[in-house]
Parts: sequence; C-alpha cells; structure tokens
Amino acid sequence: MPSKAKASNLHAFRTSQRAAPLSDFGRDLIAGLSREARSIPPKFFYDAAGSALFDRICDLPEYYPTRTELRILTECAPQIASHIGSQAEIIEFGAGSLTKVRLLLDALDAPRRYVPIDISGEHLQAAAERLRADYPQLTVQPVVADYTMPMVLPPQGGATGKRVGFFPGSTLGNFSPNEAFAFLQLAQRMLRGGGLLLGVDLVKDPALLHAAYNDAQGVTAAFNLNLLARANAELDADFDPEGFTHAAFYNAPLRRIEMHLVSRRAQTVSIEGQEFTFDEGESIHTENSHKFTVDGLRALAVRAGFRPAAVWTDPERLFSVHWLESPTAQ
Ligand code: AVI
Repeated sequence: MPSKAKASNLHAFRTSQRAAPLSDFGRDLIAGLSREARSIPPKFFYDAAGSALFDRICDLPEYYPTRTELRILTECAPQIASHIGSQAEIIEFGAGSLTKVRLLLDALDAPRRYVPIDISGEHLQAAAERLRADYPQLTVQPVVADYTMPMVLPPQGGATGKRVGFFPGSTLGNFSPNEAFAFLQLAQRMLRGGGLLLGVDLVKDPALLHAAYNDAQGVTAAFNLNLLARANAELDADFDPEGFTHAAFYNAPLRRIEMHLVSRRAQTVSIEGQEFTFDEGESIHTENSHKFTVDGLRALAVRAGFRPAAVWTDPERLFSVHWLESPTAQ
C-alpha cells in the first residue's frame, strides 16, 4: 500500500500527465482521418494564415467567383434594393471582413440594422468597428456564433423594414446537399416576412472550374496544404507538408469541385499520440465546392420554404445572385 503522501503525489503526477482536452480541430481531424474515406472538414481552412491565403485566392485571375459576384452586386444594386425596400435589417451569415455588404448598404434606402454572424470573434469586432465609423446611422450588432445552428438575435429597438439574410460567396456550395437544405430551412424561418440574398456559383465549362482551383501561382495549393501546417502548429502532430500534394478536380456527376491532399509516398503521421498510416497516392478529402444551376437552386429554395423572386447573373452566366422571399406564414 502506498503511504498517504505517496498516494497524493501519484495523484498529482497522473493529473499533470492527463492530456488537455482536444480542440474541435483536433477532435474532428482525428475522427476524419480514422474513417475509411479520410477527410478534414473545410471549416478548418480558416486560421489566420488560411484566411489570408483565401483573400489572395479571391484576387487571383483564375478565381472568377469573387469578382463576378461583386460585379453583379454592383450593377444590380438598384434592382436588389427595390426588392428589399427601406429600413431593412441585414443579417449576414459568415460575415468575414464585411466588404461585400457595403455594396448593399450603399444601395439601400435607410438600412436600420446590420447583424454580421461569424464564428471568429476577433476579426468580426474589428470589422464591425470600421463599419460603424463609415455608417453612423446604422446599428451594427455583431454576433459570434455558428450560423448553421438555431440562434436568438439581439433585440432590435424600434420598428424596421424587411429582415434580409445575406449569404454571398457561394459558401452554400461548401455544404453537403443535406447541410445546404438544413441551412436554407433555418434561414427561411429566421427571415419570415423578408428574404435571403444568396450568391451561388454556377455549373460551367469544367476547364474554367479546374483553372479556378489549380491556379498557376499555387495559392490554392498553399491554402489546402496549410491545413497540415495548422495541425502541426496547434496540435501535437508531425505532418511533413512536403509529403502531400494538392489535388483539385471537377466531379461532373456530383457537380462539384473536390479538393484533396494526396500522400506522395507511404508514410506514418502521429497526431496527439495516435499514428495514421498513408499509402502512396492515398488522399484526404478536404473540400467540396458544389456548383448549381439557376433552376436547381430555385427548386432547392422552394423545398426549404422560400419563394424565389429574382435572380441576377453576369453575361457569361458564371455566377448567380438570388433574391428568395420568405413568406410570413406557410
Ligand atoms: C469559400 N468557398 C466558397 C470557396 C470555394 O470556392 O468553394 C473556398 C475555396 N476553396 C478553394 N478555393 C476557394
């Protein structure tokens, strides 16, 4: 039998040895790599380095979605504003740096309130401060939350016009079809009496899609490989980033770009004390980016309870922006 002192020392030793609880990233990474078809959820792309790389992707010559959507929002702003009406409140899902909403705010008649919802609080507060300075009449109420989950919005003092959801950038395409449907249903309930302004990328020539996700400068490859650097920095992991290569291709039957990290050789990686063995050519699926047809998106929106009211595209029909009305009662 150990003495009392020895027993309590033993307890202290065991307590200090106990691993800190794993972060969401650590948990999801280990779960994703433990499956037969290995994957990492794309939400983990966006640490500080990944967000900076994504900003660079948006400016790449091959990555047409951002500039095309900005062009549609700029050119169609007066029509969009006429659907929305005056004194609207705007709820942005996954707001990021709050740049696209400025195009909308500039076109709207006396918008009352803007509620950007984002999981990353630090980024959001700073961006909200800048917006407040530029739009002093607007009530800006950032909410740090996962916008795919039901939530209660901060109370609004005084009457407003329509409640408008804003979900640009074709982020809907990064959801699975079931997740996309669930998100649209949730948004429809939250926006009753108003509507959702939604930007989605369209099905097109696979060569254009391939170029957009395999850029000549290798920024998309760096964005994809950053997941491994993030694992090494945040977790007890020893990925060799040189041991994996970026792969992106269009899966035509499923109408989606798939991004993968492919093992260049047979190798073993340790993550938080667990070993994962990769064969040469074995892949980790890191992202799907679904592409839509205008009619397909409108049919999905109808199933989720929306009434599609207007759609705007660029002349080459690369990208689309939809105004989906949410009826007051079903
Ligand atoms: C954020 N999302 C809409 C981008 C997309 O095109 O699916 C993410 C991205 N992945 C590679 N390049 C851009």
